[in-house]
Amino acid sequence: MGLQGPAKVAIIGTGYVGSSTAFALLFSPLVKEMVLVDVNHAKAEGEAMDLAHAATLIRPVEVYAGRPADCAGSRIVIFTAGANQQPGQTRLDLIHRNTAIVRQALPEILHYCPEALVLMVANPVDILTYVAWKISGLPENRVLGSGTVLDSARFRHLLSRHYRVDPRNIHAYVIGEHGDTEVPVWSLANVAGVDLEEFYLMDGMREEEAFRVEISHQVREAAYEIIERKGVTSYGVALALSRIIECILRNEHSVLTISSVIRDLYGIDGEVALSLPCLVGNEGREKVLAIPLVAREKAALKHSATTLQQLIAQLSL
Ligand code: LAC
Repeated sequence: MGLQGPAKVAIIGTGYVGSSTAFALLFSPLVKEMVLVDVNHAKAEGEAMDLAHAATLIRPVEVYAGRPADCAGSRIVIFTAGANQQPGQTRLDLIHRNTAIVRQALPEILHYCPEALVLMVANPVDILTYVAWKISGLPENRVLGSGTVLDSARFRHLLSRHYRVDPRNIHAYVIGEHGDTEVPVWSLANVAGVDLEEFYLMDGMREEEAFRVEISHQVREAAYEIIERKGVTSYGVALALSRIIECILRNEHSVLTISSVIRDLYGIDGEVALSLPCLVGNEGREKVLAIPLVAREKAALKHSATTLQQLIAQLSL
């Protein structure tokens, strides 16, 4: 299916992430209509009014608060509703509360837009992506999670600062859980196609293992550091979502580390939802790229998968 023209999207949850995402999408010409749904309808109305006024200064886009029935005709359902991490809380700590919200809200919404792609955002996003897939009955390619798209951006940001290179010329992926067990793939990271080790040597320097440990730590801890200071994270995830949505609506076939249900990869037993580099287009996930990993990356990815599977097993889906 080629480019289908500007689309309607539904944003479920108008907290910091949902409203920041709606603001980011004001600037995307491929979104012509946004319906904002929240259990707190007045909040959704307030956000919609504010965004509609803002849109006047940018381009014609319809933004309004609605109920599940108003999601009819949406190409993508962006599910941000749920509790946020509090300082010191892990994303996995939110599993029971946010699973209940997905179970309660998603089926009714999809009843009104059965053709939509689902883009899960609320945390723990990998587990909620799996839950959404399970309860919706949709094919795996149509239930995506924001996954480690933001973590990969954070990884590239930190490498960009270190090597003093435009982040657009740095390819670096974070895979696995969007959370404490995520895996920065150092073995494939490169600057303009030159692997980091070689790139570093060009300046006559050698990378120390301690550097990699520190950068990996900063990537994993980024959200905690931000939440400690401003209480939430919002802009990074909003632009990560905007990137995924653009990729879908433009049918880009770009490689993004979205979360989706995978099985029979890297020796992972059974199925799980986690992030790997995937080709993404208007059908959702088109292909999982089973990138080559060194032994310790494979082991770390399996640990990530097992951690998620153990928690999913507790949900009796
Ligand atoms: C973060 C949230 C989206 O990593 O989990 O900022």
